[in-house]
Amino acid sequence: ISLKPYTTFGIEAKTRWFTEVSSVKTLQAVLQGHRDTPKLILGGGSNVLLTQDFPGLVIRVVIPGIDIVAEDAEYTFVKAGAGVVWQELVEASLELGLSGLENLSLIPGSVGASPMQNIGAYGVEIKDVFHALEALHIETGEIHSFNAADCRFGYRESVFKHAYKGQYVIVSVTYKLSKKPHYQISYGDIQKTLEEMGVTELSSRAISQAVIHIRRSKLPDPAELGNAGSFFKNPEIPVAQYETLKAQYPNLPGYLTTPGQIKVPAGWLIEQAGWKGYREGDAGVHTRQALVLVNYGQATGEAIKKLAEKIQASVLEKYGIALSAEVNFI
Ligand code: FAD
Ligand code: EPU
Repeated sequence: ISLKPYTTFGIEAKTRWFTEVSSVKTLQAVLQGHRDTPKLILGGGSNVLLTQDFPGLVIRVVIPGIDIVAEDAEYTFVKAGAGVVWQELVEASLELGLSGLENLSLIPGSVGASPMQNIGAYGVEIKDVFHALEALHIETGEIHSFNAADCRFGYRESVFKHAYKGQYVIVSVTYKLSKKPHYQISYGDIQKTLEEMGVTELSSRAISQAVIHIRRSKLPDPAELGNAGSFFKNPEIPVAQYETLKAQYPNLPGYLTTPGQIKVPAGWLIEQAGWKGYREGDAGVHTRQALVLVNYGQATGEAIKKLAEKIQASVLEKYGIALSAEVNFI
């Protein structure tokens, strides 16, 4: 079975078996029946790079449902099935007049994958609105609950990428969304875009529209050009190393994040190293966002991986910075 339609990179690779599960019961039965088979859990396939055929069972999680499960004076708790398309949840929250997800508008993929790498954009991360999740323990078939502390969220990180890697299928996530406006518009071009759009009264809807506008202007639409968003993480380097580099490259951008560390945009490093718009066969570096690797049609996962390694070597040589992948290699 070809996996090409199931990842946004649009890469040709085969799997031995494939199934879609729309309920926890079915998922438990499927896992029971395939105890010793290698398994790959997929949502929207927007953060994976297939580098070879998969010798096992791909389980695509399509568990539906968006429900209000609790509320208090300040918050509404919204629970969503892992298979809900992320943007549908964002839309539902805007319809309900809730604040919290607007900055995360138009991120591709599913609810179930959102805690995996603590998705983030425009100054907000999922951890800021996360309440709890339920996950099926693959080994025992039991459902375990996790709160925010259990998930050990970090920048593009969670416990599910480390200590619990490959051990759980996330089946639902509950978000804590604000009834009162809680706007975050200090990041990047949001404010400027709101002005250009002629917005006079701030709202979650307006912020969502501004974010969508900015994203469409630089990120490629996977329906038109295969990609998985940012291919690498933005590296954090010690302040001293940043100062040394800054003396050599006066335009080097940087943001103080954790004390003593500066986050440097990898897109800038890659562009300045000459890679923006580079193309080798059907594997390339996006023309408008150097952090995004693209598949012009027939690129193999291996070709994308090779290109990524060349970029890493080049950035390491030029700046002494090792870029690490944001995308999951399969
Ligand atoms: P998949 O690609 O299907 O899976 C990703 C990983 O999670 C895999 O390791 C998979 O095994 C695992 N997984 C998936 N579902 C489950 C589950 N239910 N239980 C357990 N494990 C699971 N990300 C950001 O953070 N911010 C952005 O701004 C952003 N912009 C993007 C823009 C574009 C154009 C694209 C293509 C991607 C972008 N991404 C961004 C990356 C991607 O959208 C997110 O990582 C998203 O959360 C992936 O969801 P998915 O359902 O497609 O996950
Ligand atoms: N830049 C360049 N050239 C480029 C691209 C970027 O010089 O080709 C520099 C510019 O200085 C720009 C800065 O990088 O000001 C930041 O660029 P941008 O705002 O496009 O964001 P990013 O740092 O490249 C990160 C996330 C995105 C997220 C945006 C907005 C990571 C790895 N990526 O990208 O997430 O949407 O910020 O918050 O943190 C993803 O994870 O897939 C993703 C797209």
